[in-house]
Amino acid sequence: MIVGPDRLAEAVEVLRRGGLVAFPTETVYGLGADASNPRAVERIFEAKGRPADHPLIVHIPASASLDRWAIDIPYAARRLVAACWPGALTVVLRKSPQVSIEVTGGLDTVGLRVPQQPLALSLLGAFGGGIAAPSANRFGRVSPTRAEHVAAELGDRVDLIIDGGPCRIGLESTIIDLTREPPEVLRPGGVDVETLEAVLETPVSHTASGEARAPGMLATHYAPRARVEIVQVADVARRVRERMEQKLRVGVLAPEPMDELPAGVVQLGPAGNAAAYARVLYARLREADARDLDVVVCIPPPPGGIGAAVRDRLQRAAMAR
Ligand code: TXA
Ligand code: MG
Repeated sequence: MIVGPDRLAEAVEVLRRGGLVAFPTETVYGLGADASNPRAVERIFEAKGRPADHPLIVHIPASASLDRWAIDIPYAARRLVAACWPGALTVVLRKSPQVSIEVTGGLDTVGLRVPQQPLALSLLGAFGGGIAAPSANRFGRVSPTRAEHVAAELGDRVDLIIDGGPCRIGLESTIIDLTREPPEVLRPGGVDVETLEAVLETPVSHTASGEARAPGMLATHYAPRARVEIVQVADVARRVRERMEQKLRVGVLAPEPMDELPAGVVQLGPAGNAAAYARVLYARLREADARDLDVVVCIPPPPGGIGAAVRDRLQRAAMAR
């Protein structure tokens, strides 16, 4: 059931009795449960159809509670959270003994984040504890950026869906593993690597896109039903014609408006610059499925800033088959 911000008190009650609450963050909608209640956390995995060895991110109300959830916190982590929280950065740290293995998928590390979204912060503040929340989609699918996406995908598997409108960033948080030296970016996302390097005053390494180093970072994540094909601008018209000759229903997603495309192609864009592209990407991929397209031909944005994260998600979507 989708409800407005006026129902936050009820959402807190649902969390306290071990239920599931979907809530908006600035990145994507999360499927939340009381992180201290292993049975509630198990319900997240059931609702998503997600394997139990995939770790969840714990959302916390403020960086002041970091030490309740993590131990051996390096100075680099303190600097990053001081600079980036609330925000689209998840830090992976050694877990404190109180964090259950249901949350971490059996790992001795935990992913933590203070989101930058007024409703999420109100919910966390009123609840008081940590809220474990993956993206509120079925396992392997595209993350939801609107309350209606959550309802369409999870229906009554979730007790309450708080509607906060469309997500401001539209792609998941950046995940950085601070248990290794140098720190390693496991997933590019809402905070770009250039920003992390500026804060840390040192280069950080990043896992080659598509590798599955962290559990849950399967190459085939973030995929719509339609096949995603990544094409450079110069090749779009030819690729679209080829696919249409194969009697496939074709859509195009590009940063700029495209002319000279064959009649009958579905224009899913223009997506705009990298930040705008990030904001609309998942909704456009959902639209491709809703319109029953077979193929979405995507022209990626330039790699700078959040463009890197958009390109990462496009590559994962393209690898899904
Ligand atoms: O923006 C986001 O991060 C959203 C919102 C809801 O916060 N959440 C999200 O959660 O994308 P999820 O579960 O869909 O993706 C979390 C990723 C997984 O790929 C998981 O492998 C990784 O975080 N992760 C969580 N804890 C980890 C850990 N201890 N070590 C390594 N990776 C971890
Ligand atoms: Mg996810």
